[in-house]
Amino acid sequence: MLRVEAPIETERLRLRPFQLGDLDGLAEIQSRPEVARYLYWEPRRREEVEKALAQLIAATRIEGKDQSVSLAVEPRAGGGLLGYVSIWLRSLDHRQVEIGFVFHPDAQGRGYASEAARELLVLAFERLRAHRVFGRTDARNASSVALMRRLGMRQEAHFREAEVFKGEWGDELVFAILEDEWGGALVPDVGD
Ligand SMILES: CC(C)(COP(=O)(O)OP(=O)(O)OC[C@H]1O[C@@H](n2cnc3c(N)ncnc32)[C@H](O)[C@@H]1OP(=O)(O)O)[C@@H](O)C(=O)NCCC(=O)NCCS
Repeated sequence: MLRVEAPIETERLRLRPFQLGDLDGLAEIQSRPEVARYLYWEPRRREEVEKALAQLIAATRIEGKDQSVSLAVEPRAGGGLLGYVSIWLRSLDHRQVEIGFVFHPDAQGRGYASEAARELLVLAFERLRAHRVFGRTDARNASSVALMRRLGMRQEAHFREAEVFKGEWGDELVFAILEDEWGGALVPDVGD
């Protein structure tokens, strides 16, 4: 249903399947407390990053429910791993797709995450024929909230204390965009 073999190029970025050589770059990202703060895992040691990389390398094809594709994001002009983006098929019958994004702190604040995430919307709507694409985030994760708004996603839900997150009650926000709301790239980049 969805397989990404060839790299996807944007104005500044290349999105491509993960490879073994990404271990150092991924460790740089996943070992950082500020990256893991609102994610479901704790900062990872190298052995844990090796396992995570193996899963990311395997995640190149979506054939059924809850399968995902994760893509490494690097500068088109060359350079190390900036981050990665992921897409999950959550329901085939209802054409529901979830997206997520993780970037190195040094690569944040430059619009790279939103540039890469826009390609996830293209994959979701054009390749997976999604009807609705959604993202979930901890309510305190302001950068993630801003990114989803930048993508043209609407806030649909604020679940108060719906789970114990890292030892305390956490609020979860859900953002979404429907196929007829999408229209390719309705939301201009910052600076336009
Ligand atoms: C969530 C995350 C991916 C957002 O990254 P980000 O870099 O803030 O997101 P964007 O790519 O949309 O960049 C927006 C920022 O770049 C700035 N920017 C600079 N050039 C830009 C451009 N050409 N286009 C858009 N924004 C630009 C914006 O002004 C904005 O800056 P601000 O945060 O100071 O307001 C990042 O914070 C992250 O990886 N966090 C850790 C993991 C995580 O929590 N993931 C989400 C789980 S739900």
